[in-house]
Amino acid sequence: MNETTKETIIIGCDHAGYPLKEKVKAFLLEKDFAVEDVGTNSLESVNYTDFGKKVASSVSKGEFKRGILICGTGLGMSILANRYTNVRAALCSEGFSTEMSRRHNDSNILVLGGRVIGESLAVDLVKIWTETPFDGGRHQTRIDQFENLI
Ligand code: RB5
Repeated sequence: MNETTKETIIIGCDHAGYPLKEKVKAFLLEKDFAVEDVGTNSLESVNYTDFGKKVASSVSKGEFKRGILICGTGLGMSILANRYTNVRAALCSEGFSTEMSRRHNDSNILVLGGRVIGESLAVDLVKIWTETPFDGGRHQTRIDQFENLI
């Protein structure tokens, strides 16, 4: 991290999310975020779980404040990530939900579908997600009610 670095965002993907991960990573670096890239780093078929676990576990433990996960649809990554305590993963494909996932849900993992949305839209969503703060207040009260669910 240098003096202008804003935050380190941890990012992971499977083979279906790899091309989009590279675009998102380049955008984040251009915007002065630092990036912890856990892979994958090719189009060779892998299990999305291996990479989703690394990102979700790190965010769950507070090692990184926020992360981004990308697979083909985003579904596997979001289902997996939301099993982790303290993780609020939001699978987004349009701007309004992306903004609200930050404002109302304090989403700490953004999930994208690399086979669902194009690169330009994905970068727009990452911009919105990284720039939008949490509203807090009544929304924090609701998030607090996520504790000890069974
Ligand atoms: C991989 O083929 C695909 O299943 C994966 O990227 C993801 O879409 C799973 O939810």
